[in-house]
This record gives sequence, C-alpha cells and structure tokens, in this order.
Amino acid sequence: MADTLSITDNRTGKKYEVPISDGTIRAMDLRQIKAAPDDFGLMTYDPAFLNTANCRSAITYIDGEKGILLYRGYPIEQLAEESDYLETAYLILFGELPTHNQLQQWTSQITNHTMLHENIKKFMEGFQYDAHPMGIFLSTVGALSTFYPDAKDIFDKDSRMKQIYRLIAKVPSIAAYAFRHSIGRPYNYPDNDLSFAGNFLNMLFRMTEVKYQPNPVLARALDVLFILHADHEQNCSTTTMRTIGSSQVDPYSGLAGAAAALYGPLHGGANEAVLRMLNEIGSVAKVPEFIKKVKAGEGKLMGFGHRVYKSYDPRAKVIKRIADLVFAVTGKNPLLDIALELERIALQDDYFVTRKLYPNVDFYSGLIYQAMGFPTEMFPVLFAIPRTAGWVAQWEEMLLDSETKIARPRQIYTGPVQRDYVPRDKRS
Ligand code: CMC
Repeated sequence: MADTLSITDNRTGKKYEVPISDGTIRAMDLRQIKAAPDDFGLMTYDPAFLNTANCRSAITYIDGEKGILLYRGYPIEQLAEESDYLETAYLILFGELPTHNQLQQWTSQITNHTMLHENIKKFMEGFQYDAHPMGIFLSTVGALSTFYPDAKDIFDKDSRMKQIYRLIAKVPSIAAYAFRHSIGRPYNYPDNDLSFAGNFLNMLFRMTEVKYQPNPVLARALDVLFILHADHEQNCSTTTMRTIGSSQVDPYSGLAGAAAALYGPLHGGANEAVLRMLNEIGSVAKVPEFIKKVKAGEGKLMGFGHRVYKSYDPRAKVIKRIADLVFAVTGKNPLLDIALELERIALQDDYFVTRKLYPNVDFYSGLIYQAMGFPTEMFPVLFAIPRTAGWVAQWEEMLLDSETKIARPRQIYTGPVQRDYVPRDKRS
C-alpha cells in the first residue's frame, strides 16, 4: 500500500489522499482541499515552525531524544576529540573530511584572507567606546558587502567560494577588532604562523610582545568550542540566513542578519544571560530559592532547555570536560560551584524532569570564556565566529537546491474586514 495520508473533509464529504515521503506531507498538497471553488485551499498554521521542515539538508543531523549531533554523519564527540575547527568547517561545507592536500590548501586559503581592509578599521572607529561588540560585529559583517561587490555574483561557483573563504577567515579578525575597540586598545594584525584559534587569541590579547605565544591548552579549548558551535541545523539564525539568502542577496548581508538573530538572549546570547543569572544568584546557598522562583514562572533557568534536545545536549557534555582543562590553567571560575549545584538540583526536580529540560551548550561555555578572559559581551561573538561555517554551508545548500524559492510564509489575517476611509472631522 502506498504511503499516503487519507483525509476526509467533513464540510464536503470529499476524500483526499496526500502522499507521505520522508515522514512528511507537503503543505502544498493540502491546497487542493477546498470547501468551495473560490476557497483558497487548506493551509497549515505553525508559528515558530515547530513542526514544519523548511528545507532538505545533508549537513547536520540531530536526534533530540537521544542527544545525538552529527556533522555530515560524524558524531560531534569524535570531531571534538580528533578534529580541529578548520577541518570541521571543510567537512561541513564540502561533505567529506579533507585529504592531507585538501586540508593544506583550505587552511592556506583561509589564512590568506584574514586581513581586513584598512577602511574597516576606520568604519569600526565610528562606534561608541562602549558599543556592544556583537552590534559592532554584525554591522561590520554587513558592511563587508560594500567592500566586495563581486559577492553579488552568487550563482558563480568561484565567486561563492571566494566569499566563503573571506567570511570564515575575516570573522575572527572583525571579532577581535570589536573587542579591542571596546577596551580602547590598538588593533592587532593577524599572525599567519599561528593556528586559527591561536591567531584569534593573538589578535585579542597581544600587547607589546613581538611574537604572541598562545597557551596551547587554551587555544585547543577554544578550537573545540568552535567545533561544537559550527552548525546546528535549522535554528533561528540559520533559518534567518536561508530566508535572507532566498532573496538572492550577497552572503555578507545574509550573515549580518543571521548574526542579529544569534544576538538574542534565547539563542546565542544565552551564555551571557547564564553568567548574569549565576552572578545574580551569588552563592550556592541561594540556589534552591532561585529554582523556586523559576518554577513559579519568575524567569527562566538560562542555559537549560532546548527546542530540539529533550535530553542532555551532547555539546554540553564535551564542554563540561573542557572546562576542567581550562580551569587547570586559569584557576577555577568561582561561579562553577553555583552552576553545578543548579544542575544537580534541576536534574532531580520534577518541574525540569517532566519538561525534559537539561543543560544546553550555553550552560557551561560562558564560564569557560570568562575564565579565559573574555568579557560577557564577547560571548555571542564567540558563537558567531564558528557558526559562520554553518551559515555559509547552509546558504550555499539553499542556493543550489532546485526547490528554493524566495521565503514567503502565509498568515491568518485577524484584522478588520474591508471598510471605508473615515474623514478626520468625522472620527469620534
Ligand atoms: N527554565 C525554566 N522553564 C523552562 C525553560 C527554562 N530554561 N525552558 C523551557 N521551560 C519551560 C517552559 O516555560 C514551558 O513550560 P510550560 O509547559 O509549563 O509552559 C516548557 O518548559 C516548554 O518550553 P518551551 O518554551 O515550549 O520550549 P521552547 O522549545 O519554545 O524553548 C528555549 C526552547 C531554548 C528557547 C527555552 O528552553 C529557553 O528559553 N531556554 C533558556 C534560554 C537558553 O538557554 N537558550 C539557549 C538555547 S541553546 C543555544 C542555541 O542553540 O542557540
């Protein structure tokens, strides 16, 4: 028997067979269900796309019930253990792990594109001294489109590749400049002898030394955090990237929008919110009182819960391990004990257990970033750097998909029916 869904319309008595493939029905197949010839046809109503597949994608797979995250089929735990960020970015973009030569070429291309145009510096100098680095970051990424008008040639493979090199290579430089701007220090140029993460630390933290030597443990920890954040299928910012990209604008403009989506406290801003929350709680003794407030609906336990994961976020498990390595170098973050106590109590509490609320990627990442010397405002920027690989991969996949059309959802109109204009002197 064919895989179909049988629908009977009780308004008309008509029966319909709607094909099911890949566990989905096509919303457009419902259009044929009409009560009258002038009926528009049946639509689905799905605010926030809770149950709507917006695309086909071969990049990232998540099983939220089992806590599985795969990039191109490879488990995130194995990539975090064995790979590095640039190799993972290659995998996400091209679908396979690179050969030795491919990796060398890829790394050299990225390394050769890390410099920013000098006018970018001038552009960034226009921001207030206390401007949020994420605001600087997303505006500057958007401004890149004016530096690279060739980026409009989105259906040219070579041009697309060039923008991808530029974006992956330049986002750490923009991020570091945004940070240096916020602390009033001169910008550091990239050092191409260093690794991707090592160079980023150099651009952030180098002072007067001739050659910056990144701490290998911290550079590796940052690199693993980059791997964990590189993609996460159709989340808010990635959907934004695809939606903006569907209008066929250049990828810099699309990425500025994706970064803006990431800025919010429910998405990439969550680890900043976690630290604020931990500071607010202040001590381990006050944790039960805080949990009580959350259960009473007075705020959320930030860093907990996920739209997709209904078990422990696999990225959070890896991050918890890295935290120990980082704290061995930097000293323990004093907020860690509060976080551990929050997790301990929440995981035993019915409220969190029945709602399947577990720590997500952001619960511990902020503690690590803070211990490494990053101010909280930099946290969403640190998320945006690696997520750039995912955004550009998803953008290109969307562009090359023959089913892509400009994103344009429908609505259920709830406003007034048509009425005549009322002259000003006749309004009560
Ligand atoms: N603390 C307390 N209660 C929560 C939380 C939380 N963190 N998250 C969800 N709930 C409750 C929610 O109030 C609801 O309760 P009820 O059924 O009684 O109304 C229930 O759990 C289901 O939640 P929901 O709002 O339907 O879940 P969602 O899928 O819409 O939201 C979320 C997912 C991540 C936005 C949400 O869990 C949240 O706001 N978490 C805190 C912010 C956070 O850590 N965000 C980072 C997400 S991971 C990084 C990323 O991928 O961007």
